Amino acid sequence: MQRSDFGDSFVWGTATAAYQIEGAVSEGGRGPSIWDTFTRKPGAILGGDNGDIADDHYHRVGEDVALLADLGINAYRFSISWPRIQPDGTGPGNRTGLGFYRDLAEQLLAHSITPWVTLYHWDLPQALEDKGGWLKRETAYRFADYSAIVAEELGDIVTNWITLNEPWCSTFLGYASGVHAPGRQVATQSAHAAHHLLLGHGLAVPRIRGAAPEARVGITLNLYSVNPASDSEADRDAARRIDGLSNRFFLDPLFKGTYPTDVIADLDQVDWFTSTTTSTDLDTITAPIDFLGINYYSRHTVAGDSVVSKASAFPGSESVQFIETDAPQTQMGWEIHPDGLIDVLTMAHEKAPQLPLYVTENGSAYEDIVTADGTINDEARTDYLYKHIEACKNAIEREIPLAGYFVWSFIDNFEWAMGYSRRFGIVFVDYATQARTPKRSALWYAGFLGGRLSSG
Ligand code: FCB
Repeated sequence: MQRSDFGDSFVWGTATAAYQIEGAVSEGGRGPSIWDTFTRKPGAILGGDNGDIADDHYHRVGEDVALLADLGINAYRFSISWPRIQPDGTGPGNRTGLGFYRDLAEQLLAHSITPWVTLYHWDLPQALEDKGGWLKRETAYRFADYSAIVAEELGDIVTNWITLNEPWCSTFLGYASGVHAPGRQVATQSAHAAHHLLLGHGLAVPRIRGAAPEARVGITLNLYSVNPASDSEADRDAARRIDGLSNRFFLDPLFKGTYPTDVIADLDQVDWFTSTTTSTDLDTITAPIDFLGINYYSRHTVAGDSVVSKASAFPGSESVQFIETDAPQTQMGWEIHPDGLIDVLTMAHEKAPQLPLYVTENGSAYEDIVTADGTINDEARTDYLYKHIEACKNAIEREIPLAGYFVWSFIDNFEWAMGYSRRFGIVFVDYATQARTPKRSALWYAGFLGGRLSSG
């Protein structure tokens, strides 16, 4: 397999998110986000970790961009911290925050790396959560205003815009299981957050285009390949439910202008959805977009009829059991299943045949060992990346319009509820010194791409 197999215009990148790498949470006029608050909650984050310092990327942009350039990538996906732009979630843009991202984008461009901007990678300003967060419709309007401010500032140098990262996580980890910020457990009502997130996306699309006429706008979903553990009716129903909540609940409103009725019934939210989600809302949500981003890590194998566990990330379908297969797993306990990437790309292509697709995240956590000579031979991560990139190639051979691939992640970082205990980077971070060391996977990726790093 070679880079040239994918054609010259294929986008090759790595990805990060603001709260996971930046640190400097009290600098540059940044206000608190829901993650600053949530990480203070006893027991919420493994090891009591938080993003106060993270990778200190805020102070190390030059060094990090130089490293990105050495990889030989042509694109870098990063997210904007909303509370750096609007510390209270409303009002005019904070010049220091905007300037930080303008400088980052300019530095990338100086190295011929195309910036890909995610507007919302989960760090809602705490002031908006205090007013109800994504359970409130108002938050969608605030998100559209914020998006316009950023597009106004960066629209002359940034073309690729991702409104939301993984609204499934914001919705169901944030408001159902409570494993992510804001840590609420309002079960089936959490689905209202999904609607407001999607509405925010739909309202933001024309605002971004208005401020940045050259913009290509998309959204990133985490899609899953979902398989019933057996052919039994109960297991097939479990698969229908989990596919519904993970995939169709987001794909259908975006591309068909409807919510899947079976999912709304499972959630016991028919009344709310029929009274609140007007057809105008759905028209807004189906605003034409230019691409679809897909994050893929693993698949789900599911069975019906188990003991009901509380505070599940699958509200209304708590009795579904997630089955461990005997396939190898990463340190996250996520099964490695490269063909599932082909499944989700096929699914997305069927729902949105007109759109180019991008894998906006794919990667794996492993316990890295720094050897005596300072190298990190992360063979398993390298193999994971190789196999998933191979799956991308297979997808393209099946005429799926896949146009790019981003490794998650550029560097080790704050892995949400797992804190710093899970390393997804292809570049190792020594959190005591902030020294960055490319792992073997980075050297492999750079070698594959023809980047400088590979030649040492
Ligand atoms: C995704 C997130 C990303 C990272 C990876 C491992 O769900 O978008 O920030 O945490 O998982």
